[in-house]
Formats: sequence, C-alpha cells, structure tokens
Amino acid sequence: MRNKVTIVGSGNVGATAAHWIASKELADVVLIDIVEGVPQGKGLDLLEAMPIEKRDSAILGTNDYADTANSDIVVITAGIPRKPGMSRDDLLNTNHKIMNDVVGKIVHHSPNCILIIVSNPLDAMAQAAYKMSGFPRERVIGMAGVLDSARFRAFIAQELKVSVENVTAFVLGGHGDTMVPLPRYSTVAGIPITELMDKATLDRIVQRTRDGGAEIVKHLKTGSAYYAPSAAATEMVEAILKDKKKILPCAAYLNGEYGIHGLFVGVPVKLGSKGIEQIIEIKLTAEEKAALDKSAAAVKELIAVINV
Ligand code: NAI
Ligand code: 2OP
Repeated sequence: MRNKVTIVGSGNVGATAAHWIASKELADVVLIDIVEGVPQGKGLDLLEAMPIEKRDSAILGTNDYADTANSDIVVITAGIPRKPGMSRDDLLNTNHKIMNDVVGKIVHHSPNCILIIVSNPLDAMAQAAYKMSGFPRERVIGMAGVLDSARFRAFIAQELKVSVENVTAFVLGGHGDTMVPLPRYSTVAGIPITELMDKATLDRIVQRTRDGGAEIVKHLKTGSAYYAPSAAATEMVEAILKDKKKILPCAAYLNGEYGIHGLFVGVPVKLGSKGIEQIIEIKLTAEEKAALDKSAAAVKELIAVINV
C-alpha cells in the first residue's frame, strides 16, 4: 500500500518538503493551505515534474481537509515565519491560533497519523498540538534538532575541510537562543571534534549554530530558512515510513527523562514506524545538564503564556 503524507501550509517550508518527499518517492503527498489556489498550483506544478524525475508520487493541492483523510504522517508547517528583528518567540500567539485551527481538523480526518510539527516557536507549538490532538506522545514529534544539528555538521565539515558524511553532531534543548549544541557527542569519523579543533574555533561554530536561523533571516529579509528545515522534516518522515529505527534529535514530550516533566524539549530519540519508539538518555556533564535545564525553562515560559 502507498504511504500518504499531508503537509499543512504550502509556503516555503511546506512546498519544499513536498518536493523532497515526492522526489525521494517516499509517499503520495497532499499539500493543504488556507489560501485558495496556492496548494493547487504548487501541487500541480510538482506533479508535472514527476515524469522528469521518474517518480510515481501523486501530489494533490487542496483547501479541503477531507482530501487529507487517512494520512500516515502529517507535517504541520502552517504559520507565519519570522522577519529580521523578530525572534521565534514573537510568533507565539499568531501561530498558536493557527495550530488551534489546524490540529482538530487533521485529527478528525487522520486519527491514527503521526504529527511532525515544524511551526515556530517549535517546542511550544509541539506542546500545543500534543495537548489538542489527545495523541500519545509517541505520535507528536517536533522538528528542530535535525535542522540545528545539520547546521552544526555543515559548519564543522566546512571548518575541517572534511565530507559532511563523516560528521555527526547533536544539538539538544529547545529550538531557540538557548539550544544546546553538544561538542562532546559530535564527531568526525568517530573522533570527537573537541580533539580536532581549538576551543575558540569550537565556540565560534557553536555560536554560529545557535544563530543559524537568524543568519538566514538576515540574508532573506522577507522570511526564514526553508531548504534545510524541509530536508530535516523529510529525514524524519523517511525514518518513520521506512521504520529505520534512526536516532535523531527531535522535540519530544518528556515524562521525567533528563529530569524534565511534562514538556517538549529536544533530545535524542529513536524514530520508527510507531513514531518515537525510544527516548535516549545520554550522560550529560553538570554544565551540559544546566544548559538543558535553562533551555527547558525557556520553553516552560512560552507554554505558560498560551496555557498548554
Ligand atoms: P510561509 O509563510 O512561507 O508559509 C506558511 C504557510 O502557512 C502559508 O502558505 C500560509 O498561507 C499557511 N497558513 C497560515 N495559516 C494557515 C492555516 N490556518 N491553515 C493552513 N495553512 C495556513 O512560512 P515558512 O517559511 O514555510 O515557515 C512556516 C513555519 O515554520 C513558520 O512558523 C516558521 O517559523 C517555521 N519554521 C520552523 C523551523 C523549525 O526548525 N522548526 C524551520 C523553519 C521554519
Ligand atoms: C530556523 O531555525 C526559522 O526556526 C527557523 O531557521
């Protein structure tokens, strides 16, 4: 049977995710948006690229949630992106209202789907979607760590002039200024990067990773990043649809893991056909744990504002 992935929001991240998913032939894709015409136009355009790409993915653009019925995965990218001078947190109230609009309709038509949340501020929106959906925590996952770690990996590979394929990295915590890049768990061909670069270089790369989203916003001026974010969401989709049991940093609802209760925070998880199949608890130093707690506290402040 063919897999079905719905993407809510056919803007930059949503349409580009549809592109990656279709071009990898992972699933049939439904693109849905509140704006009339945009998902239909982008969906048809992408469908017409499939003969060239030699892919049999069907793509449908729509404004009707009935078309999303029985999706295996729903990726929610609906919401406003930030502009220069704005933080992700400035999007809180607007995107919470959008999440309110979207989640109930998705759950109604796809009660067994796995939700991947992308809209910002990520951890708070994942928490809102989790509470609204009534889904078990295994089926509500936030995308941020894969993106932040990819940025960290790209900068490490650039600095050391090595293949990106050799670089693994972990960025945990909330998707904000307090995110927690973990150099101790980041390696080049298995060698910790702490042995391959001096502290000043490492500190510079860590800071560039934390500012990665803002760096792109500054260039674009009218919106935020979308190629790497949509590729990151696609990696999560692929891990689930292919039941790969892949360990990826994702925002997950913690029930005591890492000493954190009742909160979405980025941690390493195992992704497979059931969604989050395991939350992996890695040993942290006192300093790393303090940074994770600080990041969790920042998420907690946001969710208090929207009361979820
Ligand atoms: P965009 O503005 O290009 O697209 C957003 C789309 O959502 C628009 O087409 C809009 O019409 C649609 N939309 C708005 N309200 C809707 C509703 N009620 N129902 C259905 N669709 C609705 O924005 P972009 O760049 O695609 O970003 C989308 C969101 O993803 C933003 O909140 C952004 O901050 C977030 N983001 C999160 C990342 C992460 O790492 N978690 C990375 C990149 C973006
Ligand atoms: C990013 O990190 C905007 O959250 C988005 O690029």
